[in-house]
Amino acid sequence: MEKLVIEGGQKLRGEISVSGSKNATLPVLAATLLTDKPCVIHNVPRLRDTLTMIKLLRSLGKSAVLEGDKVIVSKPTTSYVADYKLVSTMRGSFCVFGPLLAKFRQASVSLPGGCVIGIRPVDLHIKGVMGLGAKIHVESGYVHAKANKLKGTYIYLGGTFGSSVLATANVMMAATLASGVTIIDSAACEPEVVDLGNFLNAMGAEVMGHGTPQITVRGVKSLHGAEYKIGPDRIEAGTYVLMAAATKSDITIKNLNPTHIMALLHHVQEAGVSYKQKGHTVKITSRKNLKPVSLTTYPYPGFPTDLQAQFMALMATTPGVSVITEKVFPDRFIHIAELNRMGAKIRREGYSAIIEGVKSLYGAPVMASDLRASAALVIAGLAAKGRTEIHRIYHLERGYENMDEKLRGLGAKVWKEKE
Ligand code: EPZ
Repeated sequence: MEKLVIEGGQKLRGEISVSGSKNATLPVLAATLLTDKPCVIHNVPRLRDTLTMIKLLRSLGKSAVLEGDKVIVSKPTTSYVADYKLVSTMRGSFCVFGPLLAKFRQASVSLPGGCVIGIRPVDLHIKGVMGLGAKIHVESGYVHAKANKLKGTYIYLGGTFGSSVLATANVMMAATLASGVTIIDSAACEPEVVDLGNFLNAMGAEVMGHGTPQITVRGVKSLHGAEYKIGPDRIEAGTYVLMAAATKSDITIKNLNPTHIMALLHHVQEAGVSYKQKGHTVKITSRKNLKPVSLTTYPYPGFPTDLQAQFMALMATTPGVSVITEKVFPDRFIHIAELNRMGAKIRREGYSAIIEGVKSLYGAPVMASDLRASAALVIAGLAAKGRTEIHRIYHLERGYENMDEKLRGLGAKVWKEKE
């Protein structure tokens, strides 16, 4: 195993380029199961999660190879059983459920179970496919779905915590090969859902309204292969914005879509960070003392839960009191303990965290636990005085392509060492 070592207190400078979106890549790769024809997906980030999804496609009969930043998928899909070994290592693999059901009229996928950010229920996924006519039974940790035929229908997909990204993805994919029209109401509006809808249409599907709360899918007989370029990773981009803010640095972030991170840019501007956007580039300037900012996470276009931990790391060294409320994954606060080990003063109160900004954090050995919590520890380590060692960095490598190299390119003193 490896650890990430950070000598803190270093200003960042220069520019980084954002990689392709992890959370768009996973459902788009899953969608290739809907056809036996070849597909080529470009701008795919080289991440643990991408490689896990490629392994899962292979276990379902596909040939899938990552060459540089493109994945070439071919050969027929021959199995509808997604086994526990792979699905349990990555909750996102559950997005093969919809395409397998559409292709075979049956699917058996291991339940994703829980993870450190909370339980990961699939009731909305099940509600959606049952609406299309599937019969469901859950047995020994697997969800089994079977349908003589899939018929288009109206589905309200809003849950206790609002819309669901991957439930929207699964129902969209299942509906592409159903007969008739499906309307998905209270659909997730995330840019990753837009990427998926665009890819499905490139395959010959008829998806409309993706990116809005109401998506319409007119079923077709079959789908053909397609070539597609994944959009930029908005969470990676937002993470680098917060690294610049926390180290009072000026950096340029390229190859992003600034409209995808407007909630973040609004809140960091409120804190005193300035930014200039031009096309697919954003220049961040963070010098003066920042002001505390309180926020609540919501489904897109609200402030993303996937940037909550990273924003908390910024507020940890911002003088004053800020409150961060988590409305998407209410238990997503595992990073509080590790930030406090670095000298932060944060306490949890129900769905909120109260952060009393301190003058400085101090480097310490810390443990990565969840992908985005690990990113928060990197931000804290960059801002802290002294050396931080982040153990179990495979969590980080699940979602950030070459973060250590990109940070060294910005002048940070960051390197990997054997545990
Ligand atoms: C996607 O997960 C992302 N993962 C997550 O990113 C992200 O945090 C999340 O969307 C929210 O934006 C991928 O795209 C691979 P949800 P997903 O269904 O789709 C509840 C990362 O760090 N819910 O939108 O699994 C759920 O418990 C990862 O990259 C139900 O109640 O999340 C949560 O409270 C972490 N029933 C809320 O909805 C369901 O059937 C939103 O979850 C499904 C979800």
